[in-house]
Order: sequence, then structure tokens, then C-alpha cells
Amino acid sequence: MDLKKPVPTLATATLLVATALCLLAGGYSNAHNPATTPSTANGQASDPSAQQPALVQQGKLIFDKTPVYAAAYVGNKLSCNDCHLQSGTAPHVSPMIDIAGLFPSFSKRAGHVITLQNRIQECFVRSENGKPLPVDSPQMKAMVAYIDWLSRDEDKAKPYPGRGFLNLPALTGDPGRGKLIYDSQCAACHGVDGAGVPPILPPVWGKNSYNDGAGMNNPAKMARFVAYTMPQTHPGILTPQEAYDVSAYIHTKPRPKFNPAYKVY
Ligand code: HEC
Ligand code: HEC
Repeated sequence: MDLKKPVPTLATATLLVATALCLLAGGYSNAHNPATTPSTANGQASDPSAQQPALVQQGKLIFDKTPVYAAAYVGNKLSCNDCHLQSGTAPHVSPMIDIAGLFPSFSKRAGHVITLQNRIQECFVRSENGKPLPVDSPQMKAMVAYIDWLSRDEDKAKPYPGRGFLNLPALTGDPGRGKLIYDSQCAACHGVDGAGVPPILPPVWGKNSYNDGAGMNNPAKMARFVAYTMPQTHPGILTPQEAYDVSAYIHTKPRPKFNPAYKVY
């Protein structure tokens, strides 16, 4: 990557993002699940989400605009969609496709078996820096219906190949070098102060970001996300070392503290 190369100004970047969002609007289909609307997606009457397309749509809305539709449980300005791109359908950025059948499963972090609802609560108390969404709340039912719908073609014998993130070699990031990369390749959208312009451009540190108990608060995990998705207008231009460097720099910045009372999630 050439650090001297000019990056888009905030205005151009916002325009580009807005265009990208327009292109994405309305479509949450993917190669694995080619059907485009919940109402036509599934002929199997046994699938509850097929009978409740409105609930599935509501779940997608909460996923895309979490601080608006689950406001009481969100403590920052991040939506699920800011990290799980394209409403949780983009491969290799921890997609929601085919994960419904993987729960309940043992969680190393929690130290016990967790349900999909518990996993969603984990995201609320860590990535959303908020409170656990009650299991019987309408928002939880809607999100589970949406994730079930994204898993409707699930073949248990063959896990979805795009699950999780792409691997990178284990490297050590240099925050000093990362600052140069951040200032030239990231600050135009995420701001020199890391605050972004939410909800269009999400914050990467500070009070409106995820807390220090979140998965993204691990520089190696962030490097895997960033190497594949950022800068949003030119993903793939960073070398693995540069992705580690910029993640190490972001990791030196302040963010909310995880509330240990929520460790159970
Ligand atoms: C700041 C980024 C971020 C936000 C915001 C976020 N997540 Fe995540 N999520 C992650 C990361 C990173 C992982 C991988 C966790 C790990 O490996 O520790 C993950 C994992 C998950 C998983 C498990 C996926 C699997 O394959 O096992 C689920 C389910 C999930 N998130 C749901 C959500 C939901 C629902 C929301 C919104 C309420 C949300 N996430 C918000 C970053 C985020
Ligand atoms: C053109 C604008 C743009 C640029 C430049 C950009 N990003 Fe992003 N970034 C976004 C948007 C928009 C999202 C939300 C996900 C999406 O829609 O792609 C995002 C999401 C993220 C996230 C996860 C959500 C969060 O806020 O924590 C991280 C981390 C991140 N970017 C890091 C970077 C890094 C590091 C760089 C520089 C190498 C960078 N970005 C450059 C627009 C940008």
C-alpha cells in the first residue's frame, strides 16, 4: 500500500458509502440463499419463520439499526450490521447464515453451554455495550426468527464455508506504524478521533464504540476483519502486517469498560 496515495475526503466517502448502501438496500440475498424475500423463501410449512415473515423482517430491521429498534438495550452507536456486514449475510465476516443449528453449544468465554439467545445477549453486553436483551422480548424473538430464516437451507453435514473470519498469519502489530495507516486510510471515514459519523460511519473507539469485553477488542480478530473488509471503498489493499498495525493502533485508544456483572453471558 502506498501511504502517500490520497484517500477520499469525508464528503466523497460519505457519498460512496451512501451509494453502496443504496445498492444494498432491499437485497439481503446471497449465493447460498438465493431467494430474496422471507415470504417467498421457504416452501416448508414446518419452518416457523416461513409462517412469520413480518417477524423475520422485524429481526432484520433490528440487526441493521440496533440503536433505533432495540434502544433500551444498546449503550453505544453500533448496529450488528456494522460488523456482520450486509445484514449478516457477507461470508467471512462472521455471517449469521447456518448458525442457528450450531446452538446450544459450549462457550469457552462463558464457561458453560449457551443458546443462540445467550449468544445474542453476549453481543448486547459486549459489542453493543448495553444490557442483555430478555429472552422473551419481542426483539429477541424477531432476531432469532431472522437468524433462523438465514439458516433455513442449513445442511448440518456441511457447515457454511463462509462462517467466521478469514485466517491471517499470527503477526505482531506496530501501533506507531498503524497510526500512519489509520490517518491516511481510515480517518476520512472513522474520524481522527475515532468517533465516525454514526449511523453511516461507525465509531472505532470512544464512548460510542464496543467495550473492552467485545470480540473486536482483540487486535488479531480485528486484523482479520479489517484485512478483508477495510478501507470500505478499497477492501483488500492492506497487507496482513498493515492490518495488524492499524488494529494495534486502534487497540491503544480508550473505549467503554465491560461490566463484569454480565460475565455470565
Ligand atoms: C463491534 C463489532 C460487532 C458488533 C457491533 C456485533 N458483533 Fe457479533 N460478533 C463480532 C465478532 C468479532 C464475533 C466473533 C466473536 C469471537 O470470535 O469472539 C461475533 C460473533 C457473533 C455471533 C456468533 C457467530 C458464530 O459463527 O458463532 C453471533 C450470533 C453474533 N455475533 C450476533 C450479533 C448480533 C445479533 C449483534 C447485534 C445485536 C452483534 N453480533 C453485534 C463482532 C460484532
Ligand atoms: C469509505 C469509508 C471507510 C473507510 C475509508 C474505512 N472504513 Fe471502516 N467502516 C466503514 C463502514 C461504513 C463500516 C460499517 C460496515 C460496512 O457497512 O461496511 C465500517 C466498519 C468498520 C469496523 C467495524 C465496526 C466498528 O465501528 O468497530 C472497523 C473495526 C473498521 N471499519 C476499521 C477500519 C479501518 C482500520 C480502516 C482503515 C484501514 C477503515 N475502517 C476504513 C467505512 C469505512
